[in-house]
Amino acid sequence: MCGIVGHIGAGDSVDKVLEGLKRLEYRGYDSAGICFKNSAGDLSLFKKTGKLANLINLLNNQDHHSSSSVGHTRWATHGAVNDMNSHPHLYKNLAIVHNGIIENAEELRKGLTARGFKFTSDTDSEVFLGLLSFELEEGRDLLAATSNAFKKLKGSSAFVIQSSDSDGIVTIKRGAPLVCGINENLGEAMVSSDPYALIGFVEKIFFPDDDVMCFLSKGSINFYDLDGSPSTRYLAKDLETNFEISTKGQFEHYMLKEIYEQPVLIRKLSDIYLEGIDLELERPKRVHLVGCGTAFYAGMVVGQMLEKLLKIPVSLEFASEFRYKDPLLLPGDLAIFISQSGETADTLAAQKLCKDKGIKTISIVNVEGSTLFREVDQNFLIHAGQEIGVASTKAFTQQVLTGRIICEAFAGTKDFKSLKQKFSLLSHRIEELLNQAELFKEMAQKIYNFQGFFFTGRGPYYPVALEGALKLKEIAYVHAEGYAAGELKHGPIALIDEKMVNIAIVGPELFDKTVSNIQEIKARKGIIIGIGPDVADLRNICDLFIPLTFEGLEELSPLYVNVANQLLSYHIAKQKGTDIDRPRNLAKSVTVE
Ligand code: F6R
Repeated sequence: MCGIVGHIGAGDSVDKVLEGLKRLEYRGYDSAGICFKNSAGDLSLFKKTGKLANLINLLNNQDHHSSSSVGHTRWATHGAVNDMNSHPHLYKNLAIVHNGIIENAEELRKGLTARGFKFTSDTDSEVFLGLLSFELEEGRDLLAATSNAFKKLKGSSAFVIQSSDSDGIVTIKRGAPLVCGINENLGEAMVSSDPYALIGFVEKIFFPDDDVMCFLSKGSINFYDLDGSPSTRYLAKDLETNFEISTKGQFEHYMLKEIYEQPVLIRKLSDIYLEGIDLELERPKRVHLVGCGTAFYAGMVVGQMLEKLLKIPVSLEFASEFRYKDPLLLPGDLAIFISQSGETADTLAAQKLCKDKGIKTISIVNVEGSTLFREVDQNFLIHAGQEIGVASTKAFTQQVLTGRIICEAFAGTKDFKSLKQKFSLLSHRIEELLNQAELFKEMAQKIYNFQGFFFTGRGPYYPVALEGALKLKEIAYVHAEGYAAGELKHGPIALIDEKMVNIAIVGPELFDKTVSNIQEIKARKGIIIGIGPDVADLRNICDLFIPLTFEGLEELSPLYVNVANQLLSYHIAKQKGTDIDRPRNLAKSVTVE
């Protein structure tokens, strides 16, 4: 979603903001812009649709020496993708960038138009600029004007405000991510929607709570509540200096690199959690598992484990549904929120709902310091490192494994020997699979032109059928559907013909029944790609086949299968020549509902 980076300090402000925006490119965007205070003290604005490189080209022939600038990458919500709707938005001596949605924008727009404000874009964001300008015209200072204007907005938003009349930058947020940082030695301060943009520039970061305004000046940040009084409602943290900026290394895409990182990350997770640390967690009466997209599918695998291994009843929900369904929450329930970013708007709203109702909440999260991380009662970090590819891969594996570790915590296990062996075996089997890249490449060459794909599986392989289809849709832009293998004959089988590919996941559980389901598709001329144990009964009915060795993996085997799906999707997308790391229309962190 939209990326924000602002900087105040030395004269290379624009370069630092552009570097920050570059790091946020992975989040997905459709246009970019920057506003900076020029040598005359006025605001200069540059914005352009398309990649950040277009904006950088625009700036190349300009004097962009400045000590104060605010930049933005836009992911359109209100208004088409064009230069006019890109951020920052400028009015006289005032500029703003925005991440979020103003839900009452239409109503406010009417009022502002009636008062004579001339809108130059179709965005909801410009409404805030209008409100702010009237507040300033009425004689308020920048902080008081920001507070008054912000109080009129409904919805979740984060803003950064720059004025040629102020020697600082003001920020305000509610329900959207925002982090500030300082480098006292260099006399600099920065703000961003993602701490990743600040690494290497600042030494200390601050996460303001909702409705806290930050005033950034050279080398310092002051915090204020909406009534203008100094605020202590923020979390301060030293930024780890060993946090590395992720590079693609020898890989062509981040997604591929992240797929290949999985064996090492599995071992790392095992070292962190299974080397005898005290993992005890009170056994809940019931668990609510909540997440979105890939995180939801990870929850589905974890839910099956909780029910099967511990007999704990589970309710699994998309965060976007859970938050509005008035869920039945009972004493003794526990809610587990799964999120890579820890910033997904729906997941955060669902967590808040549980918290407000007095239900204990825990996270399975990747980003330490994210909003989810700060809001829950207890965190289980998945230790996946930075995930740059928009399509989530390694996070899924780590989420499921962290969920598996939580099962041990509920059980009060003290000896993790057998689980450690399973983790190690999984890591080893995935390594073997990753060494078979040629098999996936060749397969992709044969099927990449097909337009319809069914991923099918039963039991523990059903969630990975769903996740496999999601991956293929996201990066290859083809229609793919995940289905419980036994359900196909209840309708979708009508779609099967010689143009439909069925990626049939067959594990040791329910082997014969799944093979029968494949026969049904074969009888209707569907193309079968089998993923399963190397036995003749299966191999002989498949057009193409990926042999796997399941022995010893038991409940972790869906993760092994999932890597095969990841590789297949990656190579199909590669054949199609899509933008694999930044697929169209997608955002890495979905901060609007
Ligand atoms: C799919 C994907 C998304 C995310 C979803 C939740 O590849 O990445 O479906 O899984 O948007 O995001 P997080 O995990 O950050 O809450």
